[in-house]
Amino acid sequence: MDLLVYGIGQLASPVGWEPRRGPAQGELSIRRDAYLVVCEGRIAEIGEGRRPRFSGPALDAGGRCVTPGLVDPHTHAVFAGSRVQEFVARARGERYTGSGILNTVGATRAASEEELVALARPRLLRMLELGTTTVEVKSGYGLSPADEVKMLHAVRRLGEGLPMTLVPTFMGAHAFPPELPREEYERLLVEEMIPAVARDGLARFCDVFCDEGFYTVDEARAILAAAREHGLGLKVHADELAPVGAAELAGELSAVSAEHLLHVSREGIQALARAGTVAVLLPGAAFVLDEPYPPARDLIAAGVPVALGTDFNPGSSPVASLPLVLSLAVLKMKMSPEEVLVGATLHAAAAVGLADKVGSLEPGKRADLVVWDTESYEEIPYWIGQNLAWAVVAGGRLVVPSHVEGLPRGAEEDRCAD
Ligand code: NIG
Ligand code: FE
Repeated sequence: MDLLVYGIGQLASPVGWEPRRGPAQGELSIRRDAYLVVCEGRIAEIGEGRRPRFSGPALDAGGRCVTPGLVDPHTHAVFAGSRVQEFVARARGERYTGSGILNTVGATRAASEEELVALARPRLLRMLELGTTTVEVKSGYGLSPADEVKMLHAVRRLGEGLPMTLVPTFMGAHAFPPELPREEYERLLVEEMIPAVARDGLARFCDVFCDEGFYTVDEARAILAAAREHGLGLKVHADELAPVGAAELAGELSAVSAEHLLHVSREGIQALARAGTVAVLLPGAAFVLDEPYPPARDLIAAGVPVALGTDFNPGSSPVASLPLVLSLAVLKMKMSPEEVLVGATLHAAAAVGLADKVGSLEPGKRADLVVWDTESYEEIPYWIGQNLAWAVVAGGRLVVPSHVEGLPRGAEEDRCAD
């Protein structure tokens, strides 16, 4: 897993191991005519100018632009079935209420763990081809102890078989199972499901859909308190459908992230800023549902770190492309190309608790990077709906296109030796 990437026309990356607030959201380090040395899967050295001598495989970027591998901090990528009929119905003017989640629950319950893995694998590989090297995946289409655990086992198996970093989140509180009274399911979540998931190390975070028609603020508070007690990090699906005070709750609990926020209130923004909670914005869902976009400028102005994700799911956001999300964030949320790149790298990494490992190109971090078929990072959101990821390196291995053996060897000196 040693590699030299040279001939980098522009190397653009955020700097640091934690989120950058306010104007710093738009700060990038830009190097020209750069190279990057990987040793044992991590970045060992970044320099400018003449290509160093290196005995391992070498990748010539041919003057192209290199950024960190993209981090998608919010997906529901494990599911069975399709909701294309909901998509068609929306074209007739029907509104999304979230009730279609139960269709996916039915199909997901009927699928085996192996089937879920087989369905999700090509979805994740398509994300990798689009430049995404780290993906958070939520459960929440099982809504029973066995089916939620089945989903999280599928995430674990997918992570073992793919060159991407997957981050599992338990989201048993995504909807209410039709067969149980509400209070009984909440008791099951708090007393059985959360303790079991935490005990078996199946998830790193717990997320609750705190919104109109779903979990109330008080219910979400109780579920998240149990999650915290069992050592899980906290996330909140907050104020997507209506301003219910979910962002305020995320701030009160110092959650790692509050996600969606289409209808976040002023008080909610203040609460997130006070707590240092990352706002994970998902403009793909606003685009698909034809809803107002989340207020990125207000959040950044208030000092809330903003991350961007796809929300990839079969209902509200069948969007797998983070580059498309970056385009929407520039055009519809008025974020700068610098801010969106930080949002889908360092800040997204912070939203999944990995800002010390991925999200920027700096010595010590995992060698996850994308060579874009562009001259500058500004062109990534500019060329809309195209896949410009020319090469993807994950953990120091060239994984897209996947012909690492074909790379020419470098010169005799071994930069990784000492
Ligand atoms: O993030 N908001 C709740 N959950 C998903 C929707 C899932 C679905 O429609 O299946 C979301 O938008
Ligand atoms: Fe979601």
